[in-house]
Amino acid sequence: MNAQFDIHRQIAEQIADAVIHTDAEGTIRGWNAAAEVLFGYSRNQAIGQNLDLIIPERLRAAHWAGFNRAMARGMTQHGSRATVTRSLTRTGEVIYVEMSFAVVTDHARKALGAVAVARDVTQRELAERQWRQSLAKAGVTDTSSPGLATRAIHGGTAKDAHGSPHIPIYNTTTFAFASTADLLDVVDGKKPGSLYTRYGLNPSIHALEETLASLESAEAAWAFCSGMAAQIALFLTHGREGIVCLGDAYGGTLELLSSHLPLLGLRTHLILGTELDQLEPLLAAGVRLVFFETPTNPTLEVFDIRAIASMAHAYGATVAVDNTFASPVNQRPLELGADFVMCSATKYLGGHSDLTAGALMGSKDLLAPVWNWRKNLGSMLSPETASLLARSLRTLVVRVRQQNASAQAIAAAMAQHRRVARVCYPGLPGFSGHELAKRQMHGFGGMLTIEVKGGGKAATAVADHLRLFALAPSLGGAESLVTQPCTTTHHGLTSEERARRGISDAMLRLSVGLEDPADLIADLNQALAAAS
Ligand SMILES: Cc1ncc(COP(=O)(O)O)c(C=O)c1O
Repeated sequence: MNAQFDIHRQIAEQIADAVIHTDAEGTIRGWNAAAEVLFGYSRNQAIGQNLDLIIPERLRAAHWAGFNRAMARGMTQHGSRATVTRSLTRTGEVIYVEMSFAVVTDHARKALGAVAVARDVTQRELAERQWRQSLAKAGVTDTSSPGLATRAIHGGTAKDAHGSPHIPIYNTTTFAFASTADLLDVVDGKKPGSLYTRYGLNPSIHALEETLASLESAEAAWAFCSGMAAQIALFLTHGREGIVCLGDAYGGTLELLSSHLPLLGLRTHLILGTELDQLEPLLAAGVRLVFFETPTNPTLEVFDIRAIASMAHAYGATVAVDNTFASPVNQRPLELGADFVMCSATKYLGGHSDLTAGALMGSKDLLAPVWNWRKNLGSMLSPETASLLARSLRTLVVRVRQQNASAQAIAAAMAQHRRVARVCYPGLPGFSGHELAKRQMHGFGGMLTIEVKGGGKAATAVADHLRLFALAPSLGGAESLVTQPCTTTHHGLTSEERARRGISDAMLRLSVGLEDPADLIADLNQALAAAS
């Protein structure tokens, strides 16, 4: 058994779309082609290879008989020595076939991506399969790729021993073992288990991390006591060969990159969206970590994750995206080619302005060295906060979708307002990043920035007259907030630097909460009128 045929499921499904299709009458066609590919594949395969055939949702059981017939024909025609070792297990939208191959041709491997993902059936997959089956039993049909709202609630595999529907708070600092051998298994990472909370080896933290990973389509996630803690652990681990930060960023990030990290000897480069031509020379000179927010804070500039990742990868660099503004509901950078997603969970993930936390997601390999930095920097969040955050994640999708809709309505209203000079919002058709946002985001987010006519003083007056929007620097909570970046997030920059970054004193950044959007628009209208 080997794992050389581990073709990414998403690619397999995409190509499957091309091979198996619905004709004008709505009949599913292409089973023969699929079976052909399958049997081509089966000629040169290692003995005993298992194969999972993953079939998109639209190819339902009604068409299954057609595939079986084509299989039988193909077996005879090609003299294949593939045998179906287990017939079909259908779990929701995924139909699994396990086959044992005598031989499979190598050339057919790529084509096989058209219909199948072949791989060893590992323990993890078996667990995943069981989990899918239990979802299917519970009547959840979208099991081939669980929807995000489902993942927000069922995304982890951790189960409570007493049947609690969520993992309760283990406010424990250390965990006892039956024997030294058992302890060493966990210390040496041979077995999963709880050990010491600062290490993250605590059930409440582990359960949270599984859900975070699932939401960002990541292999793994590490939780932290703040977004900045996640960021510094990333930079110290993967930024030692230089970091380039693209575009605007949170003020604390800019301070860390421009003042603190250089003191430790780390080379950092800050280039704006208008200076992207400087990225490739920096990569060529050996910079190995590209970091950026998208959409950015506070101008909502949108960067092309796929394009930047492909350029960085060509030079052997990795890409980290601060996904705080978008949240995984609106954007999943790893699916677009990024290597890390960093998030201030204090914002949308927490969603109620009542916790401070951070998260870093990515592949197990890339995250592994970050673990030791987190451990020794002592930047673990408490089990109480982990539990509160896990609770919040359960409602993330409904919250953020509502915030998207409200922000869109407010942006449209503000774009018409005679006292507003400009609205920065990726959902507005006239906005510079709109087309790109449409391609890479699933929603445009709950953050927007308006530029008030009359300059900084006028903007301050509007902020001071708002009643529902609270004057506070954070974002992503249930309550709407307003902040004037020059007085808060970007106060630490010189006015020249703010101007260079396109951050004017007349800007007000709005974090749209969950109040009725009509009330929020009325609040903005009265404040704009009162301030004039
Ligand atoms: C985009 C962004 N990234 C990172 C951070 C830092 O997060 P935290 O305050 O959780 O440390 C913030 C905080 O405002 C932010 O807005």
